[in-house]
Amino acid sequence: MDQSKPKNVFWHEGKVKKEDRERLLGQKGVIVWFTGLSASGKSTIACEVERRLFEKGKLAYVLDGDNIRHGLNKDLGFSPEDREENIRRIGEVAKLFSDAGLIALTAFISPYKKDRDKVRNLVKKGEFIEVYVKCPISVLKQRDPKGMYEKALRGEVKDFTGISAPYEEPDNPELILETDKESVEQSVNKVLAYLENHGILI
Ligand code: ADX
Repeated sequence: MDQSKPKNVFWHEGKVKKEDRERLLGQKGVIVWFTGLSASGKSTIACEVERRLFEKGKLAYVLDGDNIRHGLNKDLGFSPEDREENIRRIGEVAKLFSDAGLIALTAFISPYKKDRDKVRNLVKKGEFIEVYVKCPISVLKQRDPKGMYEKALRGEVKDFTGISAPYEEPDNPELILETDKESVEQSVNKVLAYLENHGILI
């Protein structure tokens, strides 16, 4: 894929700035990037954070791997190249959402450090909040809500993250949620506290 700058295409500045939208919404536009193995709890936590923020009058929106792969990214599989493209597109979408002033909550395995770091570098410092949703694989194999681990272990799903494809843990995430030790509510509270303490909710 050609990642170079497009020729004869020019950036057009709008008349309403990101800061104006942020003032309107009473929040900072940021990306909260949940990463972790399948069934670790990314989507569950992201959806609950979205609901709790909504209750507070704050606007967030969840972008979820399984859902996005039904539409925008339905042409992509699970090879390293396809996962890279999956995360690149979502990164760009999340950047647009954050520019719109929203709190973009993304729930993708996003197994490669370099792909996550590329998204981090798309936005200003402090606007990319990496949340590592951590859970031992032994617990995930037991949870297995979609039966995917069992299938992967039987060899029926190839390149399955954590079984037959790699997952690179974040080195320095803004937050770590240990979902084998804490409840959904505790994890959600940690995310909300982070947003409060870092001036995201104005
Ligand atoms: S990512 O690696 O490219 O970030 P993404 O989060 O979009 O993955 O999609 C992961 C979801 O796709 C999983 O929750 C699982 O239900 C499904 N899936 C199907 N095949 C695989 C596979 N080989 N590896 C991981 N997830 C898979």
